[in-house]
Amino acid sequence: MENRKDTDCKAGQDRVPIRVAVITSSDAGYAGEREDLSGPAIREIVEAAGDRVVSMTLLPDERAMLAQRMAAIADVGVADLILTTGGTGLSPRDVTPEATLEIGERLVPGIPEAMRAYSMRITGRAMLSRASSVTRKQTLIINLPGSPKAVRECL
Ligand code: MTE
Repeated sequence: MENRKDTDCKAGQDRVPIRVAVITSSDAGYAGEREDLSGPAIREIVEAAGDRVVSMTLLPDERAMLAQRMAAIADVGVADLILTTGGTGLSPRDVTPEATLEIGERLVPGIPEAMRAYSMRITGRAMLSRASSVTRKQTLIINLPGSPKAVRECL
């Protein structure tokens, strides 16, 4: 990967900024018991890349709420990219991939495959993330794990 040159995806000002919607899935965050640090970490990275965060949403780990929010954003067409964080692991309340797959029209398996392959160099626990990626209409949706550290590594 280190030797690869991606000339088709330019960073910075010489391209149209990507509109990004951020969704954090966290029961504790939604209940106000834990500060959401992952959503802001995504925002920081997106903005540093010259792209634009159009919305930040904090939801509980509820499949229907997550699915509804993702579908609404994609259907209105307000974001090119939805980045979710959290809820991709194996605890009973982790349902972000299920919500994503429920409303997705097409799978984009290469993205989570690449994230896991890269992340495995950092932690073996990377294999525990069930993150998925789909498209719905003109919007790409990517699940990220739930810690600011994992968000930074995956993005
Ligand atoms: N990926 C990266 N790059 N870095 C990490 O620290 N943590 C893993 C994994 N993926 C991790 C990672 C862990 S410990 C878990 S449990 C799963 O993501 C799922 O995390 P989530 O339930 O917060 O989404």
